[in-house]
Amino acid sequence: MICFSFRRTAVAVMLLAACAALAAPQPPNNQEIERRIDALLRQMTLQEKIGQLVQYNGDTPEAAAQAKAGRVGSLLNATGADRITELQRAAEQSRLKIPLIFGYDVIHGYRTIFPVPLAGAASFDPTLVEQSERVAAKEATAAGVKWTFAPMVDIARDPRWGRIVEGAGEDPYLGSAMAAARVRGFQGTNMADPQSLVACAKHFVGYGAAEGGRDYNSTEIPEDTLREIYLPPFHAAVQAGAGTLMSGFQDLNDVPASANYHTLTEILRKEWHFDGFVVSDYDSIHELVPHGIAADDQQAALQALTAGVEMDMADGLYEKYLAELVQSRKLPMSTVDEAVRRVLRIKFRAGLFERPFYTNAARERSDILTPENRQVARRLAEESLVLLKNDNHLLPLPKNGKRIAVIGPLASDQANQLGSWVGRGQAADVISPLQGIEAQMPQGSVLHARGVDISSLQAQEVSGATGAAPAPTGATGAAAAERENGPATIEGAVQVAQQADVVVMFLGEPAGMTGEASSRAFLDFPGKQEQLLEAVVATGKPVVLVLESGRPLDIRWAAEHVPAIIQAWYPGTEAGNAIADVLFGDASPSGRMPISWPRSVGQIPVYYNHKSTGRPSSNDRWHTGYLDESKEPLFAFGFGLSYTTFSYSNLRVLSPQVTAAGTLRVEATVQNTGQLAGTEVAQLYVHDRVAPRSPRVRELQGFQRVTLQPGESKSVDFTVNAHDLGSFDTNMRWVVPPGTFDVWITPNAAAEGAAGTFQVVAK
Ligand code: NOJ
Repeated sequence: MICFSFRRTAVAVMLLAACAALAAPQPPNNQEIERRIDALLRQMTLQEKIGQLVQYNGDTPEAAAQAKAGRVGSLLNATGADRITELQRAAEQSRLKIPLIFGYDVIHGYRTIFPVPLAGAASFDPTLVEQSERVAAKEATAAGVKWTFAPMVDIARDPRWGRIVEGAGEDPYLGSAMAAARVRGFQGTNMADPQSLVACAKHFVGYGAAEGGRDYNSTEIPEDTLREIYLPPFHAAVQAGAGTLMSGFQDLNDVPASANYHTLTEILRKEWHFDGFVVSDYDSIHELVPHGIAADDQQAALQALTAGVEMDMADGLYEKYLAELVQSRKLPMSTVDEAVRRVLRIKFRAGLFERPFYTNAARERSDILTPENRQVARRLAEESLVLLKNDNHLLPLPKNGKRIAVIGPLASDQANQLGSWVGRGQAADVISPLQGIEAQMPQGSVLHARGVDISSLQAQEVSGATGAAPAPTGATGAAAAERENGPATIEGAVQVAQQADVVVMFLGEPAGMTGEASSRAFLDFPGKQEQLLEAVVATGKPVVLVLESGRPLDIRWAAEHVPAIIQAWYPGTEAGNAIADVLFGDASPSGRMPISWPRSVGQIPVYYNHKSTGRPSSNDRWHTGYLDESKEPLFAFGFGLSYTTFSYSNLRVLSPQVTAAGTLRVEATVQNTGQLAGTEVAQLYVHDRVAPRSPRVRELQGFQRVTLQPGESKSVDFTVNAHDLGSFDTNMRWVVPPGTFDVWITPNAAAEGAAGTFQVVAK
């Protein structure tokens, strides 16, 4: 197709963007890529080779000069079509014209901000999650970014750890589905497409198991748990074609993740045949020194590269020491060459040699924050809301004939809706919950009071230390709110509640309290929110509590005294519209918990796929449990209500006997037994009754969203490779032991649903 040039009219801008998309070049084939890499390696000086392994933070004059000299391979945190084009021009002027790759944290959107990743996982809808990342990729690449440091696929069982918000929760099956979907969304079918980003699965591996939930803390993970719980989402990302991985900050079984030969080389390269490259996390090579495994920075650089970290993010150690290490023969040139090969391979696959200038200002204007992009954000936000409680069908609320009091510090707040890692998201783009509700109610029927303010821990302070992007600009937190409406008081909120028929409260954590370096020892509501909640509930008005947070909070009082509770996470740009859609029943709540919700901090870690123990479960004291608290979570993994009800029956095992090489087929009937249409997430769990190592009590092996009209029933069927039902034996060999397995199709990990058994047979 021929693309003509046009004047700058809206139509022309759109056509230009379309031309850019249609002209997506195919990268050279693999053989050709390797041939061209060989040719480049023959020409490159040692300094030029090292340059490809160096990533600088920021768009600085030094970065541009080094790009021109062929001394840097990648920049982090440089954005904007015009600037990226200029920087790429600088690289084009270098001797070998090797293009730069521009990295940025596009974690849950670039300008159109989607629900935080944990919320995305709660949708149990990988197709929609993939679509959201496609949008994120289009926006980010329009602004010149070509590589995102996402998806974050760390399994996390501890909500004290602030970064639980960035992943898909506690389960390896759901985590793998989400990891693969996000990679597919970012990269599309062709990384070289100007609208595709190169993905980076992070933080390899085990970062989410930080002891005590304290960020950056050490991890101890037995090899079988590493392989069965923490590695699968990375494997899924690699199998989906992720071009890169990022190594973690933390110590893993006495060897920091950024110098861990076992995980980076033995597993990733040798077992999985990953042929892309690994970038260190910010400063994590230098951190091998305080970890205590390297005497100095030079040794740290040697250890990281030798273990399998090809690109050095920001700490400058490869740049400073690799030449010396090669010259002193401590580092073989072949190791450097292999690392350069991997970086160049991804640059070729990303189409950067064929098309280094993949965006322009026109595309940047036309592709970002479009109504279509916002629509995807709205849908994903709707699907990620989890209805936790709904006594006496308080929800959905009627749109007419009632006065609603919208109360709480997060109700009119725009900035905090964006969540933990907001790219170039702007507070001003956001529909706040108050705006969303007002837009759907008759004028004058919505009252509002903030009640209390929560201090807004600034996202800049929290993430700046490791090079994250700055927090969004625009009205943020308490100070802005005070300017607009005067001081907030609990008494004022109570008065407002008294004038209404129903109260909707927006409480939670300011977004700056979640994400990196945001571990908490207590999970209660920050500030005076609990007092506000109790005072408003004491009015006797029916209260709907909408929680906004990046983790489960301690809501024991609320769970007992508040009739309706929704976990809304941080829904993103379309927060208010999505929340209103769910509150008024235009969208049926269909999100499910991607993590078990602890009753209190003392239960942590609490997760559904635990081992049985020798004294499993009983009211008798001499069984596993607590004297002063139930051992069960407040809400189980997979839990979420709807405005209707569903029944599960008639489990049919179509393959009652299956070999390890065979396929398990099982189905059950799900019926909508309520008065409204709704979407259920049917979940398949399996349990091996006897295995060489203690089996987990249940493991998710499939899920399906199914939409049913009142009274309607459908058969949900699952097909699973029996091979996937195995576990590691004591010699770390994967086995699917013959014997009896339990199987359930259920609404959540704690429910009985429809149950049955099947046999794995030797032949
Ligand atoms: C540190 C974070 O751990 C990582 O997730 C992020 O991608 C880098 N900084 C770059 O901002």
